[in-house]
Amino acid sequence: MAENEHALISLYGVDKLYKTAVGDFPALKNVDLQIKSGEFVSVIGKSGSGKTTLLNMVTGIDRPTHGEVWVNETPVHELSENKMARWRGKNLGIVFQFFQLLPMLSVVENIMLPMDFCNTFPKNERKDRALDLLDQMELADHAFKLPSGLSGGQQQRVAIARALANDPPVIIADEPTGNLDSKTAERVFSLFNELVARGKTIIIVTHDNGLSKRATRTALISDGEVSSYMNGNHQGVAA
Ligand SMILES: Nc1ncnc2c1ncn2[C@@H]1O[C@H](COP(=O)(O)OP(=O)(O)OP(=O)(O)O)[C@@H](O)[C@H]1O
Ligand SMILES: [Mg+2]
Repeated sequence: MAENEHALISLYGVDKLYKTAVGDFPALKNVDLQIKSGEFVSVIGKSGSGKTTLLNMVTGIDRPTHGEVWVNETPVHELSENKMARWRGKNLGIVFQFFQLLPMLSVVENIMLPMDFCNTFPKNERKDRALDLLDQMELADHAFKLPSGLSGGQQQRVAIARALANDPPVIIADEPTGNLDSKTAERVFSLFNELVARGKTIIIVTHDNGLSKRATRTALISDGEVSSYMNGNHQGVAA
């Protein structure tokens, strides 16, 4: 299958079937999606439409039943588990729908973990970098607490800081503003807009149609089928 040389992220004919007690459930149906470097794509769709499943194909957390997934010329659909973790750590910043912070590590240690795992940034700079990212999220005062001592919205911002730790070219975020009040959600989107302006490629899932329009393009999923359209005012800066 010819790879689209202009796309950074490409899904070709992706089907995902989940095995259930009552037979195979098609969560993604023949999805073709190409995302260029520097694009900011929002993914919208009803609960259960396949948004998280789609992100899991791109991150390699799960594999397609049929089809191919390429990220930055890496065939994600066929990477071994061994190679996957390190590849993911260097190339993708992932914000999970339910944060997935490690409960036994402090907030700042959670953010240092990707740098330690992938050996990015000199050892003696990692803590300062983590504290700096926390500061950007206005969480500097919480650095030495355990995640359980923070509110849902604060944990969500820790998860965003962790996703940025390795300065990855691609950021994939599942409902990164789902637990945030509208002002904080606005700030997170502004940060994403800044990251895109600096050349990052971002995919986010959101339930918020207003915020979704601040991306360059929106992919709409219904019952596992994806269609995508460009947004008009893609600068997205609130008047
Ligand atoms: N491991 C699984 N086994 C069986 N079915 C699954 C599994 N994971 C997801 N599904 C089903 O696949 C469909 C898509 O799930 P997915 O989690 O991708 O939805 P979503 O769009 O992210 O929903 P939400 O907005 O609620 O997070 C749903 O119908 C869900 O029930
Ligand atoms: Mg989901």
